[in-house]
Amino acid sequence: MRLSTRHLLGIKDLTKEDITLILETARQFKEVLQRPVKKVPSLRDVVVVNLFFENSTRTRISFELAEKRLSADTVNFTASASSVKKGETLLDTVNNILSMKVDMVVMRHSASGAPHFLAQHIPAAIINAGDGINEHPTQGLLDAFSIEEKTGSLQGRKVAIIGDIMHSRVAQSNIYLLKKMGAEVVVCGPPTLIPKHIAGALGVTVSYNLRETLEWCDVANVLRIQLERQNQVLFSSLREYNLAYGISRRMLDSLHKEIVIMHPGPINRGVELDSDVADSKQSIILQQVENGVAVRMAALYLLSGQQSS
Ligand code: CP
Repeated sequence: MRLSTRHLLGIKDLTKEDITLILETARQFKEVLQRPVKKVPSLRDVVVVNLFFENSTRTRISFELAEKRLSADTVNFTASASSVKKGETLLDTVNNILSMKVDMVVMRHSASGAPHFLAQHIPAAIINAGDGINEHPTQGLLDAFSIEEKTGSLQGRKVAIIGDIMHSRVAQSNIYLLKKMGAEVVVCGPPTLIPKHIAGALGVTVSYNLRETLEWCDVANVLRIQLERQNQVLFSSLREYNLAYGISRRMLDSLHKEIVIMHPGPINRGVELDSDVADSKQSIILQQVENGVAVRMAALYLLSGQQSS
């Protein structure tokens, strides 16, 4: 089976069959990662450049590890230590790198649409590692993989996405994916952090009530307040945000069931999640990170096959 696309720019562009194929391939790579020898030769002689124009811990290390496990040759580029600081354009930067015979580009950028722009101008396969407030497709895929692994299936699963929906590319990719795979989605947060037309545009239910949302859901994917993307005051203080929308141990214990807690990281401890929730048995936050390597191996492997045909 093959993907319907040459690039992984967003979940919006993927079919249900693409998502199923990536998740199934990731399951096979997760088995490889449990073996004493965790390396396979699938991307031998393939050159991958990781272009990070914005900070990252998890995504960057995860992609680099995935590439090494697949035996690819990898090159890392950090904008803050490059000639971008001297005024070089995105296209010039990338064309210079490509002239060194690069096959695939993994890119994170603060501008929404930057990887889509690149895909129109260069021949290499592009994987979006997060573009502005648009999409973070491999995060959506690893979140889906983790939900399936923990609960058995996505079909009919009740997933709440809680927090700063407005500025979250993770929310967007999760919503596209979960809806395509038959899950029910509620987004929950303060009205100022939820886009006005999201219910009609993306087919989700909106709730401003945290307790009701937690009572309803099987899985709560809790998002970080993205202060760096907010240029106006959208809530009174982090303390008040925590009182209204922060998830505490006491609140979880008062529910009539045990729900799964997820977070894409980095966590603002004591703001959206209290530490004794983030580190509890209900939390699968570190499993999400672990699964990210297998999911990114699957994406790299399947897209490299698209280029050679
Ligand atoms: N989840 C995520 O994208 O984390 P990083 O910003 O550390 O890559």
